[in-house]
Amino acid sequence: MTELNVSGSASTELAHTRDELAKLLEPARRDGASVGFVPTMGALHEGHASLMRVARERVGGGPVVASIFVNPLQFGAGEDLDRYPRTLEADLEICEREGVDVVFAPSVDEVYPGGLPQVTVAPGELGDVLEGKTRPGHFGGVLTVVAKLFGLVGPDVAVFGEKDYQQLALISRMSSDLCLGVDVVGAPTQREPDGLALSSRNRYLSPEQREEATTLSRALYAAQREAINGVDAAHQAARAELRRAKTVDLDYLAVTDPALGELPTDPEPGTEARILIAARLGTTRLIDNMSLTIGASR
Ligand code: PAF
Repeated sequence: MTELNVSGSASTELAHTRDELAKLLEPARRDGASVGFVPTMGALHEGHASLMRVARERVGGGPVVASIFVNPLQFGAGEDLDRYPRTLEADLEICEREGVDVVFAPSVDEVYPGGLPQVTVAPGELGDVLEGKTRPGHFGGVLTVVAKLFGLVGPDVAVFGEKDYQQLALISRMSSDLCLGVDVVGAPTQREPDGLALSSRNRYLSPEQREEATTLSRALYAAQREAINGVDAAHQAARAELRRAKTVDLDYLAVTDPALGELPTDPEPGTEARILIAARLGTTRLIDNMSLTIGASR
């Protein structure tokens, strides 16, 4: 266990093992303080910092814990597990700046002693659509590690970004279906000034790809504006933006209800919906999503 003194203010503590984590959380458990939790895979950016601030608001003086763990279980063959950025020193500085009390940065063996687990969490049907269709097994890996981390950290509140909207929906569902007792909170997507959703994977983009990557958010904003004229108009507006891009290889563009189910065929004016997009720029796969209000101005 290392004590950090990056800024000289109340310091963030770093735990690499389950025992170290348990010891650091002992006082909070004894005092019955609320524990806030922000699970991450590291390569932290302003989006993660905003999740830490939401966790702090929720727990007041209780401890905020962030985990940094690149979870092999959620990466498929040929995905970016090996090249996923690992930037612990810089991550710790962000945690320190945001007043995170404990960072849990375990090894793969610490999380999966004796190899990958026999018992895993099955996401059900929602895990097979959209991201789950392109990335089979991905959400099983996400839910399994999040369930384990919930078990180790014992949070009252856990905060996840809306950028990974399907992940947020599934984790929220897992917590209620399995009675895990964790209040799963979604926090708004943080964006660059030109609209690009912040993502740890943005750093893979070449300058040219970085420019074209704004196509995703431009398509979603166009759909938001056109949603007043119905679902088809929203779709078409998004597709018109996508056609302008030369190197954006669309994986999916989908309009769903806010719970990721099907929208009614003829939605009432004012019906809330979600538009979700995934696309590749070279070898980098990006996702984004926004809310829509069908048939009414926002
Ligand atoms: O969103 C992420 O960074 C990961 O999927 C999560 C939730 C930390 C699980 O590994």
